[in-house]
Amino acid sequence: MDLMNKIIVGDSSVELKKFPSNSIDLIITSPPYFQQREYGFGGIGNEKSEMEYLNNLYQVFAECVRLTKKTGSIVINLGDKYLDSSLSLIPYKFAIGVIEKFKLKLINNLTWIKLNPTPRQDKRKLVQSTEPFFIFIKSNDYYFNQDAYLDYLELLKISSKKNSGNGNGIGKKYYELLDKSDLSKEEKAHARKELDKVITEVKTGELESFRMKIRNIHSQPFGGQEGGRKMHIEKHGFTIIRIYGKSLKKDVIESPVESIRGNPHPAVYPEYVIQQIIKLLTKENDIVLDPFCGSGTTCVAAKMLKRKYLGIEINPEYVNYAQERLNQTEDEQIEMVFI
Ligand SMILES: C[S@@+](CC[C@H](N)C(=O)[O-])C[C@H]1O[C@@H](n2cnc3c(N)ncnc32)[C@H](O)[C@@H]1O
Repeated sequence: MDLMNKIIVGDSSVELKKFPSNSIDLIITSPPYFQQREYGFGGIGNEKSEMEYLNNLYQVFAECVRLTKKTGSIVINLGDKYLDSSLSLIPYKFAIGVIEKFKLKLINNLTWIKLNPTPRQDKRKLVQSTEPFFIFIKSNDYYFNQDAYLDYLELLKISSKKNSGNGNGIGKKYYELLDKSDLSKEEKAHARKELDKVITEVKTGELESFRMKIRNIHSQPFGGQEGGRKMHIEKHGFTIIRIYGKSLKKDVIESPVESIRGNPHPAVYPEYVIQQIIKLLTKENDIVLDPFCGSGTTCVAAKMLKRKYLGIEINPEYVNYAQERLNQTEDEQIEMVFI
């Protein structure tokens, strides 16, 4: 039976047992939070005790570990809850349990910052506006493509350079300072040539940025590598400090809580966050599984990014809606539009 690109109506603690071991590249899911909602059909979430809830989650999780390839990863999004006016920290208890029971490594606790959190009336607590996405790996051979994650940050950086007057403003200050400096005619000519060169490197994106230090204008550099620069200034009248580096890919991701018109599901996670995680942890044609797939956000994001998908959901109403969403989804690369 070909199970790819399908959503199965069923209980994941039963359905997952039917799949072969080491067959999935990424499992990404948001299980029902503890005592938060009634999704019906006897699923996980409304157990009487925290322990019972966690044990049910671990049962499903054990299957997830079996199914995941050595190069794969498992990402779990869980929200916290106030019990008797205190945060229960259930997501973190779950993550600690996973590390202890399954000997997986937690490589990141990616924090989703909600740009439009639900306002609460409680004047004695701040508004909860974050949720963790725990990224677990099975072995050190895990696939990880940091360049693909939030890759538009790099594009933005290049486009903002292009937009700053075709980059012609870059280094203007240094040309003026060189003119004013006490460097000899030859030293000035050499410095201008080196300045032209480094500006081209910035414009082509080879270099993040640079600084120039000019004799008797800028303060003297000190020791270490700076000592080498000091000698360069003495000999040539200037030095250029090249700054390499890409945009930092941090363990936080900002996105509003999404509500899709007509979606019957009350707790949808943002497609944008899921897309970024899929890009980070998989390649085209890899298999992405969501064992609590609700309205199908994971499957939609996977399809858009040309990954294979597989969903399991206990409530048939959500499965019908997820199927509609999938039918409307083109499996083509998402184009980022910059305004
Ligand atoms: C938090 S929601 C997931 C929402 C989803 N991420 C989305 O964007 O639409 C959790 C889902 O798990 C389903 N569920 C609960 N217990 C289940 C089980 N044992 N097997 C499969 N699905 C289950 C619920 O019906 C609910 O739709």
